[in-house]
Amino acid sequence: MNDIFRTRLLEEAAGMKDVPRGEGICTKECPSNIAIVKYWGKYGEQKPRNPSLSLTLNNALTATSIHWETGKNIRPSVRFTFAGKESPVFAERIGKYLATLQPYLPFLSKSSLHINSVNTFPHSSGIASSASAFGSIALLLGEIADELYGKTGEEHFLRRASFFARLGSGSAARSIYRGMVLWGESSRYPGSSDEFAVPVQEVHQDFSDIRDSILIIDSSRKKVSSSVGHALMEDHPYALTRFGEADKNLGQLLEILKTGDWESFISLMEHEALSLHAMMMTARPGYLLMKGGTLSVLEEVQRFRKETGLPVGFTLDAGANVHLLYPPAVAIEIKKLTDSVLKAFCENGEVIEG
Ligand code: PMV
Repeated sequence: MNDIFRTRLLEEAAGMKDVPRGEGICTKECPSNIAIVKYWGKYGEQKPRNPSLSLTLNNALTATSIHWETGKNIRPSVRFTFAGKESPVFAERIGKYLATLQPYLPFLSKSSLHINSVNTFPHSSGIASSASAFGSIALLLGEIADELYGKTGEEHFLRRASFFARLGSGSAARSIYRGMVLWGESSRYPGSSDEFAVPVQEVHQDFSDIRDSILIIDSSRKKVSSSVGHALMEDHPYALTRFGEADKNLGQLLEILKTGDWESFISLMEHEALSLHAMMMTARPGYLLMKGGTLSVLEEVQRFRKETGLPVGFTLDAGANVHLLYPPAVAIEIKKLTDSVLKAFCENGEVIEG
């Protein structure tokens, strides 16, 4: 809605017109995240149609390093490599991304950058890596800006990184912070914004160390890209209801997070995952992103929970893979369930353990 922070960054950029000579190599790690309340549908400059709330992951990180050189005689250039190998597809996306950041970081027009990223999770696993990739690049660009023009305070540094990350991939805005993170303006959370994410402050001890195991059902490229998926919400018959529901679910989740009620947490999380997929199925054209293995895993998890009463629930991204969330106290039982039942539905038995 409002662009207060954008205006502030543009004012700061006005003071960065001179590009000093500089060179360095810096490295940052940034985790991926999984949304509990999902962001699906966007407007304007990568702003969300509804607020979302995610858990930052511990077991899926991107480490990026940038070798940079700036100065008024430097010809701008960008080279992107993934684990040392040229990656033209991503290089093109990064080139476009840096162009969108130029108004905020004018030194980019007088910079030569070599960006190299590596994921700690298997590249082949089909896990969305754009959140951790853009998060790490956004943090690094902030670091270079600080080195050239002087340090900003930590709060501003992170908020700016979240704003920059958002322009690469909406969900990346949330990866800048640990734990539970909220992005998107909602009257239910003072200080929330469409421009950047904020860490959720009131989280019960019982949600402080959530485990997330990722079951790789299908590692192939996404059937529908995020941008196509978001665009499908534009004339979706249920869009307005969905945006309202997401905001309501956010309100409920914020209360649940305060109380440490795992049963309600799981119920809301699974409802959100299925709602996301329902939106895709009922779009035009509609997409089926779950595979047979996905459905089998969801059924097995619900059956296991009914039989044992143990707190474990699932969530999904815009794809076939399944995230299992549970507290550390039940990790041994979940490992047994995974090894004895769920792995059979995974591609090559692959599970990224939480
Ligand atoms: O950040 P994007 O544009 O790739 O969109 C991600 C959307 C979901 O992952 C499906 C949900 C979310 O909130 O992360």
